Amino acid sequence: MHKPVLLEETVSSLVLNPHGIYCDCTMGGGGHLRRMLSLLEDDAQVLAIDKDKQILEQCSKEIPRAGIRFIHGDFRHLGAILNQVDIHQLDGIMIDLGVSSFQLDDAERGFSFHEDASLDMRMNREQELTARDMVNNYPEQELVKILFEYGEERYARRIVRAIASYRREQDIKTTLELVDIIKAAVPAAYRRDKHPARRTFQALRIAVNSELDALQGVLPQALEALKPGGRLCIITFHSLEDRMVKRFLQEKAKGCTCPPGMPLCICGQKPELKIISRRPIVPGENECLANPRARSAKLRVASKL
Ligand SMILES: C[S@@+](CC[C@H](N)C(=O)[O-])C[C@H]1O[C@@H](n2cnc3c(N)ncnc32)[C@H](O)[C@@H]1O
Repeated sequence: MHKPVLLEETVSSLVLNPHGIYCDCTMGGGGHLRRMLSLLEDDAQVLAIDKDKQILEQCSKEIPRAGIRFIHGDFRHLGAILNQVDIHQLDGIMIDLGVSSFQLDDAERGFSFHEDASLDMRMNREQELTARDMVNNYPEQELVKILFEYGEERYARRIVRAIASYRREQDIKTTLELVDIIKAAVPAAYRRDKHPARRTFQALRIAVNSELDALQGVLPQALEALKPGGRLCIITFHSLEDRMVKRFLQEKAKGCTCPPGMPLCICGQKPELKIISRRPIVPGENECLANPRARSAKLRVASKL
């Protein structure tokens, strides 16, 4: 089971109109979606998007309800998806980033460093690029950058050197092959702390699925699609994601882009959003104890003006 993170905080910030139109851009196991539905009347409409067809098919069966449209798609194309279904003004949009427990627990998807499987890590299995392509073919400099930036892996260089030396002899095919390469590359003390492959796997997953590009792409489309008063709720698990969301919200809440000190505004840009939670909403200790995945979660909420 996937335990939805910041469930009440997100859904109570999102659903203000029980008759409205909502979009869950990351349906996953449908935890947030179910809670949303419990607050909505029968005439409400919901779009539930996920780029993982397998999850969408599996979980949508368990949520039988009129008024929901399940869409296999990437939220980075939110505008086009909404055009396809002829919906243009939403009361609320939520995005719960990252990976779901269904993906992590399904060994053959290759997301887990505990299970042996082909190095895959694609959320959308129709995509060509896999983690295996990446570790075997990407230039070393690029891999180091991915591990540093997306994994904040301090031993990125050592790990990539070890990957490069292994792949000169043979392809790295499986998750546990990569885990062994990482274990042999990092100092013993690092191996005793958290799992030494954790950060590399996170970095590769983010890169394989272009997670940051998708987030960057969806933000203006989500703003465009909201009606005045409509809510945008975004849960992030990574500092780069949270920074991206925070900057976008601040910029759109400020409006004017004139340099500070200008006596009059000449850019003419008006605020488009109101930030509802100035500081990110984070899970309490009890939630973190019950669900360790929640520890790094941050929820930001804004309302369209
Ligand atoms: C953390 S889970 C969502 C969990 C869900 N809120 C719940 O309560 O069960 C994230 C989901 O978003 C999906 N996802 C990630 N990036 C996506 C994207 N760009 N477009 C659509 N779905 C995406 C993943 O496949 C995964 O199922």
